[in-house]
Amino acid sequence: MAQSAQQGPLFFREWRHEHPVIERAEGMYLYGADGRRYLDAAGGVHVVGIGHGVQEVVDAMERQARKVCFAYGGAFTNQAQWDLADKILALAPPGMRKVYFVSGGSEANEIALTAIHHYFVEKGKPTKTRVIARWQSYHGSTVGAMSMTGNVLRRRDHSAYALPFPHINPCNCYRCPYGSTYPECGLACAWELDRTIRREGPDTIAAFIAEPLVGTTAGAFTPPPGYYEVIRQVCDQHDVLFVADEVITGFGRTGQKFGSDHWQAVPDIITCAKGISSGYAPIGAVVIQDKIWQAFAQGPRDTFFIGYTFSGHPVSCATALAVQNYLEKHDLIKRSAAMGDYLKRRLLDLAERTPSIGEVRGKGLMLGVEFVRDKASKKPFPAEAHFAGRVVRAALAKGLHLIGSSGTADGEVGDHLLITPPFIITEAQCDEMVAILEETLCEVMSNG
Ligand SMILES: Cc1ncc(COP(=O)(O)O)c(C=O)c1O
Repeated sequence: MAQSAQQGPLFFREWRHEHPVIERAEGMYLYGADGRRYLDAAGGVHVVGIGHGVQEVVDAMERQARKVCFAYGGAFTNQAQWDLADKILALAPPGMRKVYFVSGGSEANEIALTAIHHYFVEKGKPTKTRVIARWQSYHGSTVGAMSMTGNVLRRRDHSAYALPFPHINPCNCYRCPYGSTYPECGLACAWELDRTIRREGPDTIAAFIAEPLVGTTAGAFTPPPGYYEVIRQVCDQHDVLFVADEVITGFGRTGQKFGSDHWQAVPDIITCAKGISSGYAPIGAVVIQDKIWQAFAQGPRDTFFIGYTFSGHPVSCATALAVQNYLEKHDLIKRSAAMGDYLKRRLLDLAERTPSIGEVRGKGLMLGVEFVRDKASKKPFPAEAHFAGRVVRAALAKGLHLIGSSGTADGEVGDHLLITPPFIITEAQCDEMVAILEETLCEVMSNG
């Protein structure tokens, strides 16, 4: 049973494709109304860490809903909000001081943008307004977040109203933008930030934003050692804030608490969403360093005017708190690292016997699989082939939910999958996933 996307009242994002009706979900699987079962290799869309249908999280939601579902955050607070903020600060890198709740990743990046500007106004540097981001990144669909987003395909239709934010090359060792290799490259792509700030004018640049590992739009581009240490050094030198967009990488996805923990480079701001609540409720957060809070606290103003109706929603906060407690109780971040190692080995084995897989990369359970038409030359499939889309749909028909995207090679062509299953995945389920993927790739390749 599928919801025909062209009929009915729903405005689907991809209206030419059918959307199976999901009736329930448990553990690693989604169950369709027609009785079909789908192995969730994408954690929804890089969201679900603890698995589906955890009763104690549902109980926590119910308990909170029975107490109070909504009390306006501009006038009231709630205990769940305080407890969750404490929990996030305990997990976050050193020096993080305050948490501002929102409802998702785009909102988190919008708030970060306005908080950055407020910070520099308080510091007497109001001309610092622009943010440098990277090509092939994704930071959300609202105007500010889309202006930072460097994904060409997503920007194309929306650039008319995008803010004039500069972009630098991503760190992509498989297709180095400088045609070099690590470590001989000297991390040229990180030093590009320095050149760009100087060229644009340090007095106009407020921040640099990056996903620790680039997610949906690049299939887990993973910087080598030293990359973010250079970024941190350059930001410090020019009084530019470093924002880590941890919407996917936060809360254990990469096998560490935050993606930033893989490097010795503590961000000034972390934006997060998805994994906070494992998808049980919509929530995101902006986490700021003490130095930013001090500028707010000591400045002449006492109001941050930008906010959202559902910021700090009691049920969302209680849900996310229960999810984080569950993650801790079952040591699931460690499990993300261990199962990520296992799954990566299995995907690397698959790559060896599959001509269309050019690279497998990533950390923990955030793994990218990049497709190529020719392994030796790394030539991608033409855009018209819609290779990733065909793989995703063929896999779904076989009971495997994947997320794939295009533009991996240069923003226009190239295809990848971003594999992000819940951390509770077993070795047998990893094997099941790889077997269905192999069968799918054989089918798609043989169909031309
Ligand atoms: C890195 C990153 N930032 C921001 C967002 C936007 O988050 P949301 O869809 O919750 O607005 C996403 C969504 O995929 C993301 O992957």
